[in-house]
Amino acid sequence: MTGSALDLAMAEAWPAAETEQHGKWLFRFTEGVTRRANSVLCVGQPAEVQSAIAAAEDFYAQRDLPTVFMVSDALTPPAVRETLAAHGYREDAATWIVHRDLPATSTLGVGQVHWRMEVTDEPSDQWFDTFWAVEGDRHGSAAAAVYRNRLLQPSWPTRFVTVTGADEHAPSSVGQVVVVDNIACLQCLATAPIGRRRGAGTASVAQRLAVAAELGAKTAFAAVMADNAASLGLLERLGFQQSHQYRYMRRQSPSA
Ligand SMILES: CC(C)(COP(=O)(O)OP(=O)(O)OC[C@H]1O[C@@H](n2cnc3c(N)ncnc32)[C@H](O)[C@@H]1OP(=O)(O)O)[C@@H](O)C(=O)NCCC(=O)NCCS
Repeated sequence: MTGSALDLAMAEAWPAAETEQHGKWLFRFTEGVTRRANSVLCVGQPAEVQSAIAAAEDFYAQRDLPTVFMVSDALTPPAVRETLAAHGYREDAATWIVHRDLPATSTLGVGQVHWRMEVTDEPSDQWFDTFWAVEGDRHGSAAAAVYRNRLLQPSWPTRFVTVTGADEHAPSSVGQVVVVDNIACLQCLATAPIGRRRGAGTASVAQRLAVAAELGAKTAFAAVMADNAASLGLLERLGFQQSHQYRYMRRQSPSA
């Protein structure tokens, strides 16, 4: 599977509220919630890079957001990054795309037998509360509705996995899988701080790989920030390999 196919599947799996196509570039806006859904996905090199950058700056100025470009080693030619750098944009948030093939039938155990697995088409309240307890702090309460009503609702088949200890009430770990054509995007992996290093995250990923294979996926991938040793370690142990990196480019604020 090519890196560019993984990047394009990731965009489908995280649906922005508004997407405007400018040549092959995608201008995405979702009320400022998450960088991915509020950045330009730089696919290829436009004939007129300078005017594409200016159009993006107009788009985000009209929406009162800073202009952020998502540049990928698999999608974005170096010349585009160089032009952005010449306009004062700086790279940030290096992120690995890691991937692995899926077996035709599921030979992926979910690890320890002491987990209860719930697989649903929609995020249950328990799923969301567990996810938000880990991820919500950096977004604020208003963002919760944007997640529930938009970002977690792709137009592709999706499943939400909740992992709970056999004798426990509160879930330990949650995650989402979205299957875009035959590519499974694993996202929203979160283990409650109190439940970490017990294999719950591993069980959640293994369960989602099994679900993805049932839904016809041939490949699975995840996006993991390059400094997230925990998540990279977990996925590496499950056979994921590095494909390529992407980054965001934005202008530094004067105080930064
Ligand atoms: C990443 C995360 C989901 C791991 O969940 P978990 O349930 O603790 O993971 P597991 O117990 O299944 O860990 C499996 C393996 O991953 C690696 N790992 C997990 N946490 C680690 C850590 N803090 N440091 C280094 N390696 C780690 C280890 O190899 C571990 O095996 P070991 O415990 O036998 O050494 C959890 O730390 C988390 O929710 N972090 C915050 C949110 C996040 O980063 N999500 C991922 C976004 S891509």
